[in-house]
Parts: sequence; C-alpha cells; structure tokens
Amino acid sequence: MRLITGFFDEYTLDVHRVLDLAAGAGSLLLAADRVLPGPLTLVGVEQDAMVAECCRNDLADRMHASSDLAIFQGDGLDPEINTRLSHQFDRFDLVVGNPPFLSPRLRSLRYEGSNGVEWSKLRHSYPDITRATTDLSAYFVARAFGHLRVGGVCAMIVPISFLSSDGASQVRRVIEGQGEVLKVDRLPDDAFAASVATVCLWVRRSSEQTTRPNSDGMSWGSWIAESPRLELPPSLRVKDLARVTAGFRDEFYQVAAQVEEADNPPVVLADQGWHRVLTVGHLGWREPLWGHRPVRIGGRALLHPVVSSAALSSMKSAMRALLIPKLVIAPQKRVVAPWIDYEGSVVPLTPVISVLAADSSGLSLSLLAAALASPVAAAFLEHRCAGTALSAKALKFSARDVGEVPLPLNREAWERAGHLWPAWRAGRLWPYLDAIRDAYSVETSVWSELLDWWLPRIGQVVE
Ligand SMILES: C[S@@+](CC[C@H](N)C(=O)[O-])C[C@H]1O[C@@H](n2cnc3c(N)ncnc32)[C@H](O)[C@@H]1O
Repeated sequence: MRLITGFFDEYTLDVHRVLDLAAGAGSLLLAADRVLPGPLTLVGVEQDAMVAECCRNDLADRMHASSDLAIFQGDGLDPEINTRLSHQFDRFDLVVGNPPFLSPRLRSLRYEGSNGVEWSKLRHSYPDITRATTDLSAYFVARAFGHLRVGGVCAMIVPISFLSSDGASQVRRVIEGQGEVLKVDRLPDDAFAASVATVCLWVRRSSEQTTRPNSDGMSWGSWIAESPRLELPPSLRVKDLARVTAGFRDEFYQVAAQVEEADNPPVVLADQGWHRVLTVGHLGWREPLWGHRPVRIGGRALLHPVVSSAALSSMKSAMRALLIPKLVIAPQKRVVAPWIDYEGSVVPLTPVISVLAADSSGLSLSLLAAALASPVAAAFLEHRCAGTALSAKALKFSARDVGEVPLPLNREAWERAGHLWPAWRAGRLWPYLDAIRDAYSVETSVWSELLDWWLPRIGQVVE
C-alpha cells in the first residue's frame, strides 16, 4: 500500500483499469482502489481456485461500491487467458504484481512438478524472452508490460537480480525499446519470507512499437548501485587487449578429478611437473591462501591442491593455454582483487577468472592489474552487475563483465599506477590511488565520493 501511495505522490496517472496477473488475496488491487480516484475496473488472475474465490469475495466486500471487479481463475502466463483479457478489457492503465519468483536453476531441485510451472510450455509460449536462467517473475513482468496502454505504468515486485541478470536481459530489452524505467525502490531485506532481496520496479510504456535502438538488455544495476556513476570518455576495454576467461564447467570437472594433495609442500614447482590449483576460496587481497586454508574440490578438503603436468597434458588444450603469466581474480568479492601469476604456473579452477594479455597488446600484467584493482573498475562492475551477487555487498561478475572494464586513457599515469600497484599490496595505497585517478582523469569531487564507497570495502589497514 505504501509503495503505491509513494508513487502516486510523485507521478500523475489517469487510471481506470488495473490488472494483477497473480492476484493472490488481491491486496495490491485493493490498495489501488483505496489510493486512486475511482471508479476503477479491478482485474485479477489467480491460479489457485480457492484463493481466487476468497479474493473475489473479499474485494467485493471491501472495494468502492462504484468500482468493478473481475477475478479469473487460471495461469496468468497462459496465452489464452491473456488474449481473453485483451479482448474483454483492451489495455490497462496500471498493472501491479508481486508474482512468484522461481529460477529455473531451483526448479529441478525443489519444485519441478509440485507448483505447476511447466517450463517447457513457458519456453514455447515466450521464446523471445527465454534464456537458460530466466526467472518466473521475469515472464510476469514481460506479460504485464504487454498489457499496458501507451502511457500506462507497471509496478512489479521482483528479485533484485532482475536488474542485471542475463536471464532477464531480453525483458529489459523489450521494455527499453518500448518504454522507460521510472524508478526502482529497494525493498527491505525482510520484506518477504523468501530469502531473496527484492525491488519494486516502476516502468512506463511509451510506445506500441519498438522505437529506440535496441540495447542488448544492458544492466539496470545503476538504479540501486551505491557507487557514483562515472562518466568516462570512450576508451579501450580489457577485452580489446586481453583474453578473459573463467573456463567451463567440464574443465572444472576434468581438473577436479585429477587434483591431488601435494606430498611435499611447499616445494611445488612447475619444472618438477606439478602445478598449484587455485580456487575462489584461495583468493583475496594478499597472496593466495594456498597451503594456509583448506579448500573443497570435488567433495574433498585439500590444503595443498596440485595437479600434475602429465594429467594436464591429457586435458583440453584450453587448460594448458592458461599456463602462461596471467591475472587471476575471484568473481565474487566486495572489490576486484587481482593476483598476478608471474610464472604462469598456477591452474585456476572455474569460476576463477583469468586475464591473459594478448602478445600484441604491449601491456604488462601490472598495468592490467592496476586498472582492474582500481575503484573505477569496481564501481563500473557494481553498476553493471548490481543485484546478481548472493550477498548485497558483494560484486559478482563474469569473465565477460571483466572484459568490458574500461582502460585508462592517460598512459603515463597508468604506467605510474602499474609501478605503484605492488607497493599497495604491501600497504602503501595512496600513491597508487593518486596515479590511477590521474590515469582515468576522474574529477576530484567524484573521486572523493568514489573513495567513500570503495575504501570501506577493501577492509585493510593502509597508510
Ligand atoms: C505473492 S502472491 C500475490 C499477492 C497478491 N499480489 C496480493 O496483492 O495479495 C502470489 C500469488 O500468485 C499465485 N500464482 C502463482 N503462480 C501463478 C500463475 N502462474 N498465475 C496466476 N497466479 C499465480 C499464487 O497462488 C499466489 O496466490
């Protein structure tokens, strides 16, 4: 109710028809009826017959006498029901909803068959928006948006991952082509019993046709990002000068099957035919915790995980191609913390991200590290990926995201930052920071705002 009132305090919208495609007890429809000048036509779809009946009776008792009500029992994503809604009511001025959330990843673990979601039917009915990871709620957003008149508004409560996930990218793309995001309200973490962070998304339809050049479903993470938005001039990206990869699941299994506990640590040298295996659990700000912290690989706890050269030579060439000097980065931390494997001897285990400078790039690994470790890269990734991490404070990024990080334009300052970067690892942070600010030419006021966000995240004592 508060969400709806808050919106109508800010925006004016002429509302006659309101729809909820997963109406439940009808509380959102009722809130709309209370807040908006009527009379309204309230329309809901509810899958559960008993809930639909309660919703019908309850709303009939509590809504304005002059409003109309139609509650349908059925699947709000069923194309037939939706065609019927369009014929009977034409377009809607307002579509509200807190639809069910359910990622395909979880369906086979807990839900397949038990909650009636037929994923193959959904894929078939909505081929254009379906990705391997499309959450059920994203289908409801797409469907809701499709029912809006031009100028109409849709308010949906969705998991925060809707803003950046690949699974919702096609839905974001449709909305960007035919409408706009008005605002995104972060909801309190305990807003729902489910342990999923949520937002309320407000979008307006501005056209029947796709009028804007279609983006590739760029992230909407900026709506909830806490770091300042950086206006950087066009520049090369990491992917232009380096290969960025996190390997593939089958490579993980190949290596995991061959990992052993080193017999005689810490003497593990590549020229003796052994390679240290690094996992996400080893990586942080400082030297990898290999040998200091046991990690689990393939169900086993290992303190000194190694893989032999002989085993590697029987694997895919992609694994051996990683045995060159490179950066390795854990994909889910509070900032980007690269570590340089100067010898090119460690084997990073998926999903650890490796950054390999192309031979022709003229880039040293310390230059790449200086750029990727910077507050600029962390803020860029927060805006690009906000909402996809398990914890609200962590940044979760893929190899593709790292490839998109912009590189500094001021080469002289960048080289300085590259020289100063190793000293930072020893605690001397400020000379590096001054150099990297110059390298990216960030304005002083934006820079101090950026540091206010970034410094608490690196969680280390610095001079
Ligand atoms: C979180 S509740 C919605 C609450 C509702 N918006 C309100 O204001 O009271 C979700 C509801 O969606 C219904 N539901 C789940 N999947 C559905 C579907 N495919 N079509 C229609 N309703 C569905 C559930 O039965 C449940 O009542």
